[in-house]
Amino acid sequence: MRELEIAQKAARAGGDVVARYFRQGVTFRTHDQPYNLVSDADIEAEAVIARTILEAFPDHVILGEETHRGDPQATNLWVVDPLDGTSNFAHRLPQFAVSIAYYHRGQAVCGVVFNPILGDWFVASRGQGAYFNGQSVRVAAHRDLPDTLMSAGFSYRRGAVADATVSAIGDLLARQIHGIRRFGSAALEMCYVGAGMLTAYFEYELSPWDFAAGRLFVEEAGGKVTTCTGSALPLAKTSVLASNGIMHGQILDVLLKHAPPKGGPS
Ligand code: IPD
Ligand code: CA
Ligand code: CA
Repeated sequence: MRELEIAQKAARAGGDVVARYFRQGVTFRTHDQPYNLVSDADIEAEAVIARTILEAFPDHVILGEETHRGDPQATNLWVVDPLDGTSNFAHRLPQFAVSIAYYHRGQAVCGVVFNPILGDWFVASRGQGAYFNGQSVRVAAHRDLPDTLMSAGFSYRRGAVADATVSAIGDLLARQIHGIRRFGSAALEMCYVGAGMLTAYFEYELSPWDFAAGRLFVEEAGGKVTTCTGSALPLAKTSVLASNGIMHGQILDVLLKHAPPKGGPS
């Protein structure tokens, strides 16, 4: 499929930019909060990704985290996070990725998540399965909480959202799960669920570019992705639970008890 080829070409080009800045160092500025960082690496990578996509598909629309404000309802939409895991990048942790998804009429068609430092590729296309470095992968077969390893993300919105996350983690730990991880890259964490390395991942607030590609990867690997209240995932700011499917209901029951109040103080 041509879109998948271009998604990979764009991820490679964006990944090259990100990897170069990672090696040479880059200055970070802050976004809306003092702990929400951005750098030339994010901006330049998004530019090169957008250029690669638009050269191939001039009439397609791009929704990117940094500078591309495309309409999420567009018929042919590319959802791009040029650098997912910016805080890791800033602290020299090689745990970040480029995330690119192509949506047609609101449905994810293909997605790529690429960690340019580890050289890890997570690639999925609808109906064709999920592949980690060229190998077909499936979600974990776990059925019971005490067999699971999970991860959680903390949104940049602190206050009520962070408190809810901490209390959900405490509740899960009390149910004797193997552990909770915090990797700092939603895109990668969702792919780890798809690849069966994690049973589930949740975060109470994410943006479309964080989960657009990872969501397809999980679904194609046999898992399930919904909001943390069990609704279908909108292509908008939302909570996300990605799981192996079998355990989705059990984990939702826990997350629902701790969900932050809607529109409440952050
Ligand atoms: C962030 C990462 C992080 C998640 C945040 C995201 P960024 O994206 O995915 O793991 O917890 O909610 O905003 O800022 O590194 O692209
Ligand atoms: Ca992100
Ligand atoms: Ca980002």
